Amino acid sequence: MAELTPNPAEDRGAWKSKLGFILAASGSAIGLGNIVFFASNAYQYGGGAFYLPYFIALFVLGIPVMIIEFSIGTMTGKSFPVAMRQLVGKRGEYAAWWTISCALFITMYYITILGWALTMFVGAFGGLLTDPAIAPFTGMDTPTDGPNATVYFFGMIATWAPMLSVAAIWGMTILILWRGTKTIEAAVRIFVPLMWLFMIILIVRGLTLPGGVDGVLYLFTPNMDGIMDVNVWQGAFAQMFFSLSLGLGTMVAYASYLPKDADQINNSMLVSFLNCGFEYIAGVAIFAMLFVYALNPAGTTLSLSFFAIPQGIANFPFGVKAFGAFFFFLLVIAGLTSAVSLVEGMASSLIDKLGISRAKGLTMVMVPGIVGSFAFALPNVIDPTLSGDGTLGLTLLDIVDHWAFRYSLLIGGLFECILIGWILGADKLRAFVNKNSKFNLGPWFNVQIKFVIPIILSLVIAGTLWQDLSGGLYGSTYDMEGYQWLPAALPVFWFLSTVVMSYVLTNRPTQEHAPHNVSNPA
Ligand code: TRP
Repeated sequence: MAELTPNPAEDRGAWKSKLGFILAASGSAIGLGNIVFFASNAYQYGGGAFYLPYFIALFVLGIPVMIIEFSIGTMTGKSFPVAMRQLVGKRGEYAAWWTISCALFITMYYITILGWALTMFVGAFGGLLTDPAIAPFTGMDTPTDGPNATVYFFGMIATWAPMLSVAAIWGMTILILWRGTKTIEAAVRIFVPLMWLFMIILIVRGLTLPGGVDGVLYLFTPNMDGIMDVNVWQGAFAQMFFSLSLGLGTMVAYASYLPKDADQINNSMLVSFLNCGFEYIAGVAIFAMLFVYALNPAGTTLSLSFFAIPQGIANFPFGVKAFGAFFFFLLVIAGLTSAVSLVEGMASSLIDKLGISRAKGLTMVMVPGIVGSFAFALPNVIDPTLSGDGTLGLTLLDIVDHWAFRYSLLIGGLFECILIGWILGADKLRAFVNKNSKFNLGPWFNVQIKFVIPIILSLVIAGTLWQDLSGGLYGSTYDMEGYQWLPAALPVFWFLSTVVMSYVLTNRPTQEHAPHNVSNPA
């Protein structure tokens, strides 16, 4: 079944150097997940309680699944769906298109959040940081009246400005993707070093604030109660998949542009360590600021980065407030290189499958994508009667995020391990990886991908589903007046539409030879 074709990477594009690939893959991994979601998860799950499960998740799930995804890409030289069909047959392609369809949902709201970050960046030069916050901070469930970042944020999303920013982010994403690996590589050579530089500036600032070290201690002091809590483990595993860009075929697409003899153990470790290193540094910078200003980032995932941090920065003396602009600029460039990879994962799948031009593949992703991103950002979805609970767009985003974030990546990872471990054969994968690697994966790796990871992922997915179904459907606690059917309708819509997309695309004929369209994006 596993007929391997020669790697046609020259036709589809190829990374110019190993550095280019590492920058692109780590640029994909480092994103909003490392700054916005990591910090808010770590906070929600009790700081030090999160750290150990997260660390274990890196070695037990993160690095092994990345090795699998990189290998699927280099073995076949194709993106996820076509690669899976070559390696494990049609059911592999169904699974892959399902996850690619989920990636579309994630990209929609990911880019909306980036649009908001861009608007806040512009705001940092205007009214955002002019009025220092009054701590303690109250969550988004009870927005305060005072002039502060929360009020600024809610005012901002009620205007048309985010629509412009969302369009701008989509425009930049497509521009970076226009000539494939060539333009991606050029962009990440600038953006990835820049995001490290900005993060280092922020951490130095955070740690030199009097009291900043207390926040760091909160983040790193182990907390045994939390470690006994299954929720913490579930959160840590989902966060690890998101942070490393796993489960949605993104890393498969990037690896398909590598030469066949790339050392995938080395690449996986490099990308994972760069990603998690950045994440811990970001955590230190953010927790330092939280503690200095006694801020309480209650509410949704976004509260911490969009309300608490700018409020802290607003307390800085004049001049130093520039850190607000740094912070949002950092969010934008880190998120942009991740959005680029999400779109590339989808577009290259369509290009490989349908044999269409790059321009057409990008358009097929962008059109539905931008409609979705606009839907979350549309000021018209704001219903004044929902004032107690924020806005409908934000609530929609939170609900879609819950289902897409908690399920699709982990289900994608589960499919990968089962199909590659059992159908292709773990031995075959291991032989392929070991051939080009200085380190060798021992037979334990078979046990890992055939049993350990599938069992862990199944337990986490089943546990989350149980909680969602038994404790009231996620989102049903929102006070949505008039829209009370939405929390139930959204997951059904998400699930059905991804299944239909997967069915339709899998049953289209596969174009054997994609045209040489990278140098000719007509
Ligand atoms: N890893 C990115 C972040 O941390 C987001 C991302 C990019 C992603 N590509 C992905 C998440 C693929 C899941 C799957 O922000």
